[in-house]
Amino acid sequence: MIDVKLNDAEKRMLQGEDGLVPQLTMQWLVEMCQVAGTDTIIDLDGTGDFHTPWTTMTFHHEISLDELKKLTAAGGVFKIPTFSNKSPFTEMSPIHGWEGCDMCSRSHGNGRFDDCDFHEKSMHEEFYVEFRKMGMLQTHSCASYLTASYLPTIGQHCSWNESSAIPYCNAVLGARSNIDGSFATCFLGKAPYYDMHVTENRLATVLVETERLIHTDTEWDLLGFAIGEDCGLAVPAITGTAKPTTTQFCKMNAGMNTGGSIRMYHIPGSTPEAPTLDAAFGGKKPQRTALIGENVLRATYEKLNFHTSDDVDMVYLGCPHLNAVDMMLLARKLEGKKVKIPLWIMTAPWLYNVAKEQGYLKIFEDAGAKLMDGTCMAAMGGVPDYVHNIAVDSAKQSYYITGCYPDDDNRLQVCYGTQDDCVDAALSGKWRGEFKSVGGAF
Ligand code: F3S
Repeated sequence: MIDVKLNDAEKRMLQGEDGLVPQLTMQWLVEMCQVAGTDTIIDLDGTGDFHTPWTTMTFHHEISLDELKKLTAAGGVFKIPTFSNKSPFTEMSPIHGWEGCDMCSRSHGNGRFDDCDFHEKSMHEEFYVEFRKMGMLQTHSCASYLTASYLPTIGQHCSWNESSAIPYCNAVLGARSNIDGSFATCFLGKAPYYDMHVTENRLATVLVETERLIHTDTEWDLLGFAIGEDCGLAVPAITGTAKPTTTQFCKMNAGMNTGGSIRMYHIPGSTPEAPTLDAAFGGKKPQRTALIGENVLRATYEKLNFHTSDDVDMVYLGCPHLNAVDMMLLARKLEGKKVKIPLWIMTAPWLYNVAKEQGYLKIFEDAGAKLMDGTCMAAMGGVPDYVHNIAVDSAKQSYYITGCYPDDDNRLQVCYGTQDDCVDAALSGKWRGEFKSVGGAF
């Protein structure tokens, strides 16, 4: 058993002298250190996020609503700026656009999915009220960092809890986080000191090469999934790409943490800890080289894209949740058109209002599409009953949505491709996408 180093204040909390909530959260933190193999706790100076309304770190550390109320009555607050991820209890987090979605009881059996009044009400009840008192900003998104308006800076220690977001924190922002965002870490402003908090663990070990320039959104999505499968937990340095856009970073990050579990990577010249390839490896030699060539991208495309019919029942876009520019570009594609089959577009609740003010919502609605927020198809655990073949433009969504159908006889079919392929499918009801080698030469 590792003897975790505690200062006097931490010892007091652990002994219960500061109350039950500090004690339970400290107990959890000490156990997390032991699991992580570290004797050190680090004070966080960045930001945190976790899945609401969970206060449960483990079963024996659950904090009841009554305890939470006592805590807030005594002035308890989150010690770091804290944002909410989408809720794992999917009926809690959607806010806009769910009328008539036909998703009332597909997997949750509570009849509430298309009840917007319930969603609205849930935001003002119980745990959420207490969380807001504690300072939580309720972004309700897997891409909360895109709406947060407050980001950690280089070197700051954070505690986030969304797999697709972790590389954004580490690789893109240069801040430091493991996948351990929880009520405890945000309340205490402390986390176990291991893995991505430690400088040497952030250095690249695997050199990733491509055969041609990676530059379209779908190529980044495929590249991410393929790197995840190849590299697993390693830290790759990726070469042979154009400079990624914000959307492309997000797509690759989501793919990486579906094919594998990549918390950190480097793209020399694009990510802050890799001004050069040599710096990415800390002056050492790569342990190995992974070639993500044309054949790998094609095989990944085919793995994610399986359907026996080209008749599509529904199109789903917004994994990770669409940002404001994504919505602007999508609105251009849909303006003046009419969808033939349901098209669902997912974003973050705060951005729903931006889409409304910018006129994108009206364009989507006029086209017959639905703009929705606060969760995602995979988190919802299924699709409406009429859907047997769905089109998506996200490797992560393709992978997880089919996992909702373990029975092979009823396995959902998926058409995976570019956003343009998906829009075409929404307008025509037909899938015409195919793998394209569109990347340019180096
Ligand atoms: Fe977000 Fe769901 Fe995709 S949580 S990253 S939209 S699978």
